[in-house]
Amino acid sequence: MDTFTCIQTRRSTRAFAEKALEPEKLAAVIEAGRLAPSGGNSRSLHLIVVTNREVLRRLADVAREEFAAMEVREGMYRSIANSIAASKRGNYVFHYDPPAFIVVANKKGYPNAMADSACALENMMLAANALDLGSCWINQLHWLDENPRVNAYLRELGLKEDETVCGALSLGYAESLNRTPRQSETGNAVTYVR
Ligand SMILES: Cc1cc2nc3c(=O)[nH]c(=O)nc-3n(C[C@H](O)[C@H](O)[C@H](O)COP(=O)(O)O)c2cc1C
Repeated sequence: MDTFTCIQTRRSTRAFAEKALEPEKLAAVIEAGRLAPSGGNSRSLHLIVVTNREVLRRLADVAREEFAAMEVREGMYRSIANSIAASKRGNYVFHYDPPAFIVVANKKGYPNAMADSACALENMMLAANALDLGSCWINQLHWLDENPRVNAYLRELGLKEDETVCGALSLGYAESLNRTPRQSETGNAVTYVR
């Protein structure tokens, strides 16, 4: 697949097949994240790769319980409010139960933490598409990063004291891989100054 087609046909996957993810494909996606550019070539990113289903279930349970204990407030970011509402209803699995879940962490207070993480996440999403895998950026652990219970569990999984969660990626074979090309008309705005 050429680069532009890969960019155009990358779409978010929110339903994963039971099909096992080959270790070589997982390794290739991780490598794509590791090779992402970073501000000042700081390379301070830390990927925590979770393939243990029990751990994934526990992460979903802890996040659901903590969201359910929160209240939706006026003006709250819509996706956070949705996570709270879904958790209060129960049965909310924020990561869509993928075969692999990659937490992207970076140094607290590092000004390019989020920018570097976004580069790694996009690299991994494009690599996934090139390998016929589905993926989706998952933000709930970023929102719950300072939540004591979530933070304590993430530390058990390898998050370091001086690190913050910038995002995460759910990865695996899609139940049905949507490659409907993104339409140019619905893309981001551009101003040309000629
Ligand atoms: C910064 C960022 C955070 C996102 N967080 C989530 C998320 O937590 N859960 C989710 O299902 N999708 C998440 N997404 C995926 C977007 O909803 C998705 O990219 C957007 O709707 C466009 O659809 P597409 O990816 O199929 O082109 C996120 C995407 C970005 C870039």
